[in-house]
Amino acid sequence: MAKILVLDPNKERGVDVPRELLTQQVEEILQDASIDVFVEVIGGIDPAHEIIRAALASGRHVISANKALLAQHGAELLAVAEANGVHLLFEASVAGGIPIIRMLQTYLTANRVREVSGILNGTCNYILTEMAKTGREYEEILADAQRLGYAEADPTSDVEGFDAAYKLTILTNLAYEAHVQTDRIERQGITQLTVADLRLAEQKGYTIKLIGSARENQGAISLSVRPRLLPADHPLAGVHDVYNAVKVNGDVVGDLTFIGRGAGELPTASAVIEDLTLLLSGENTIRRPNWNRCLEEQVGTADAESSAPTGLYISLNCSDLEVQTLVDAQFEESIAASGGYIAERLATHFKGGIKRAYLVGGVREEQVKQTVDEVVQTVPHVQLCVILPIEGDVHPGVEWSHNTSVHEEKDSYLEVL
Ligand SMILES: NC(=O)c1ccc[n+]([C@@H]2O[C@H](COP(=O)([O-])OP(=O)(O)OC[C@H]3O[C@@H](n4cnc5c(N)ncnc54)[C@H](OP(=O)(O)O)[C@@H]3O)[C@@H](O)[C@H]2O)c1
Repeated sequence: MAKILVLDPNKERGVDVPRELLTQQVEEILQDASIDVFVEVIGGIDPAHEIIRAALASGRHVISANKALLAQHGAELLAVAEANGVHLLFEASVAGGIPIIRMLQTYLTANRVREVSGILNGTCNYILTEMAKTGREYEEILADAQRLGYAEADPTSDVEGFDAAYKLTILTNLAYEAHVQTDRIERQGITQLTVADLRLAEQKGYTIKLIGSARENQGAISLSVRPRLLPADHPLAGVHDVYNAVKVNGDVVGDLTFIGRGAGELPTASAVIEDLTLLLSGENTIRRPNWNRCLEEQVGTADAESSAPTGLYISLNCSDLEVQTLVDAQFEESIAASGGYIAERLATHFKGGIKRAYLVGGVREEQVKQTVDEVVQTVPHVQLCVILPIEGDVHPGVEWSHNTSVHEEKDSYLEVL
């Protein structure tokens, strides 16, 4: 016998559901001995947490699409499942229809995972794609996304990177067989990005995407959810609209990339049914994820990204050309003094003045932040916009002189800003 727990049995639904299957009483399902699998698609922490724990404790398998719950309480719930000889499966919790959970859990046994990174939030990918395509700013595109049902009325979890951080937590736990706390993940959303940033990056062949990334380097794992500049040949650079993608790098197999719909009724249902058929095909063959170890104990976590020299995109709003010249001089001097170099200087006009952007290399992010703080404090009428990591190497560009001013660069960009 099947039963469906709902809040409101009288709600109009897009599908025909026999009324007698609906219930508001979870006890009715828990006490029905004929039910041996729970599918949890309630969302949120409470009451989903209690319901899943009770279902597992009563010897029922659970399939869940709940990334927030799994990221926060997955280790505890997996332990309850193991203690009761049942399984907790969660393919739908990350990247919708992409079978990335199963892949990490069962396939890459011959590999040590070096990196798992991806476009994990379809709402952000849609917004960034539309901004780049139409030249319309973030707020306008967000309003469209809300109208189209791609963004929630309160978009914070998506646009500030919380949703992607939950998914990255789950992927990291699986890839490194350990348990990471979501709040250890460095997080930067997309709300500060402007069309000018996307255009300036594009001018140098880069696409800006919100990337969740876990990378192992010499025994430490750096974790972040941030907008990044991806070069055109990066496997995630061409993944647009509401699509998700996950790139896994294994030491034997190299790069693998999976692309698909990260949300929506059917991709989510597809992942849930895949879990169901996995259970039906034989519980004994299902590998149990091991999330008992704390990640720090196993491999350590580190802010490796901000403590190693890297390529960075920095954009600042300057009120006019005179201010930009002062900023250039101070910025150039400080970056050179910290052993880095400016590979590219870009500029474009916008309503409030000039957006000045630099692509820098060979310098630590912490140093760049310090330099920018000093510039903003000493030069009047300057405002920091964003500092973003650049994927791949940033090479020193051609010699630059102060004569390369915004006037020579503005023409092809003025019309779109
Ligand atoms: N939507 C997607 O594309 C997608 C993709 C991947 C993962 N997920 C995950 O799937 C979960 C659900 O998301 P959703 O967008 O489908 O949410 P939703 O549209 O709000 O659906 C939630 C369902 O749970 C029921 N429900 C909520 N609170 C309940 C309670 N306290 N007691 C009993 N029933 C309750 C609701 O009943 P009523 O119908 O009566 O209101 C509704 O049927 C979340 O964890 C989400 O992260 C969603």
